[in-house]
Amino acid sequence: MEKDYDLKWICEDEEYFKQILELRYQILRKPINMKRGTENNLLDGKKETKHLAAIFEGNVIGCVSIYESNQTLKIFQMLVDIDFQKKGIGRNLIKKIQDEFKDKKSIKTIYCHARAPVVPFYEKLGFKKEGDMFFEVGIEHYKMIYQNQN
Ligand SMILES: CC(C)(COP(=O)(O)OP(=O)(O)OC[C@H]1O[C@@H](n2cnc3c(N)ncnc32)[C@H](O)[C@@H]1OP(=O)(O)O)[C@@H](O)C(=O)NCCC(=O)NCCS
Repeated sequence: MEKDYDLKWICEDEEYFKQILELRYQILRKPINMKRGTENNLLDGKKETKHLAAIFEGNVIGCVSIYESNQTLKIFQMLVDIDFQKKGIGRNLIKKIQDEFKDKKSIKTIYCHARAPVVPFYEKLGFKKEGDMFFEVGIEHYKMIYQNQN
């Protein structure tokens, strides 16, 4: 896909955040039979949390959230809407975060809990598996870490 979408940081009082929550439910929760409401994350609403969205024709088509603490950045609730997957949008979301934090000395590592089938996606972006497989929301995950180049 040609990059005719925008990557934009979203505040939780914007309409776009409602779209993010709906996508989280449709893409991350419903397929594993989780109830509506579980798309809300404990890290939402915190001052250390930010949300990045890919926006195409007024709609969020991909998003990822980050939480900054103790010299690390946690990436969570990463998704691309079904019709837009495998077009490089997920890669561009993560790359933007890597770019924005690469000179920030206070951030040493970026990490996520990756669903097992998605491990190769993060590996292509320089993340490495750490530790054993574990279960989260009832499915297999690996912790994956990216060393910030600063
Ligand atoms: C995983 C996800 C975020 C990736 O976003 P995307 O926009 O589809 O991925 P991209 O097109 O940017 O892919 C970048 C590279 O990773 C690869 N890749 C993407 N998803 C992959 C997967 N599930 N398995 C293996 N490789 C994958 C692509 O083939 C591409 O490789 P290339 O550079 O060699 O062409 C998206 O597919 C998605 O939302 N999946 C469902 C929800 C989910 O599992 N979220 C992650 C929770 S941890």
